[in-house]
Amino acid sequence: MKAIKKQFSKRASDYNTYTKWMKDKDLLRLCTLPLNDYVDTAKCLDIGGGTGWLAFEDYKKSGRDWTVVDISEDMGNIVPKAVKFLCANAENIPLPNESFDFIIIRSVLEYTNVELVLQEVKRLLKEEGYFVLAQKVMDGYSLDVNLILELERLRNPLKKNLGFMSNLRKKVSATGLKVLNSRTYTQKYSIDFTKWLSRNNTISDANQSALRKIIDSLDDEVTERTGLELIENTLYSNLTWAIITCHKNSHINPNTSVVVSMIVEKVENKKKYILLQKRKYLFTEPHYYNVWELPQGKIEPNESIMDTAKRELFEETNLELSQNLLHNNSTIINDIQLERVDVLTSVFSKGSMNYLGLCLLVNVKGKVKSNIQDNEPQWIGIKDLKRILLEEKIFPLNIPMLERYFEINKLE
Ligand SMILES: C[S@@+](CC[C@H](N)C(=O)[O-])C[C@H]1O[C@@H](n2cnc3c(N)ncnc32)[C@H](O)[C@@H]1O
Repeated sequence: MKAIKKQFSKRASDYNTYTKWMKDKDLLRLCTLPLNDYVDTAKCLDIGGGTGWLAFEDYKKSGRDWTVVDISEDMGNIVPKAVKFLCANAENIPLPNESFDFIIIRSVLEYTNVELVLQEVKRLLKEEGYFVLAQKVMDGYSLDVNLILELERLRNPLKKNLGFMSNLRKKVSATGLKVLNSRTYTQKYSIDFTKWLSRNNTISDANQSALRKIIDSLDDEVTERTGLELIENTLYSNLTWAIITCHKNSHINPNTSVVVSMIVEKVENKKKYILLQKRKYLFTEPHYYNVWELPQGKIEPNESIMDTAKRELFEETNLELSQNLLHNNSTIINDIQLERVDVLTSVFSKGSMNYLGLCLLVNVKGKVKSNIQDNEPQWIGIKDLKRILLEEKIFPLNIPMLERYFEINKLE
């Protein structure tokens, strides 16, 4: 551990310019795909996040709350101020359980005890949170695995656990995290050969000359297969990444998610309109992408049904809830105030997760504005609403709610 810390302390000041693979935009996009489905309030953690480059890239776009954990204080000194930094070992992170919606680990596991780190990920991830593991793997080098392993051994004897996508997937699943998606991504990489050989004076002279010998003796066939080639003083190679996206294993969670939905009604020139918006979870729900839905969201800890309704409505449409049109009252029994809210209900299952939808009928104050992920809230007339229902271009949880609404209002 001390040796790894020392190595990255030496590399810290030059890390962001030396490590070109880090700034590959396609790799960044693949590593942060699930974040597209998150509101900007999601809490994110980069374990072994080094200089905080990835965290800061997302922060600049979204303003999300990012924390970087790394064992090297010198790497941490480079983390931009907008990102929190915690100097800690990935195998034992002093942060509370279920603190993060999104966790990423990129190019770190080879220095650690993988099982311990993955256990930490599982502990720190909120129920239904996402985890992305990005790791260089041997998958692209079928005939040349031994050559690549030898280069890695000479360059960085501190690395262990160099492996294949299938091993990584197995380890992740063994932790109880549910793998949603795994892909490889091959990056064309080039670097100044002298810089590559010495890597900020962290490679011994003996290892440097052994590396030079191997590179000088590469033949055309190896170059063809691996992309490894020295042209003048530039070294070219292909790096293959495994990118594994996981979900916290929600089927071991006995809880059913409770969703509060709202039928928001307005009357204009004696005509009724209902507010719908577009569902935009491309990564996690591609099959429902762009279908209509009611304003809605899950009840958060310590919220009442009405608190959730007000918060979600404002977050998604910028509107203020003014009145709940279904029956509601409050009574005091034995000094305890009880709120009664009548709702329309529906239940929806997705895989092993159950969603219980409670639907309010409300009217609102204010002007509609798209506040979240371009969700396009719009007032829809009753005729158009019926057509949308008929064509089933609406999120299934909301269908029984709207059907019930039609019954109550005797809308044919
Ligand atoms: C190759 S860098 C990757 C940095 C960053 N994840 C990225 O993608 O640019 C590996 C990082 O892992 C950190 N690291 C290695 N072992 C660690 C451990 N046990 N706990 C926390 N960080 C560790 C190093 O200090 C270094 O910053």
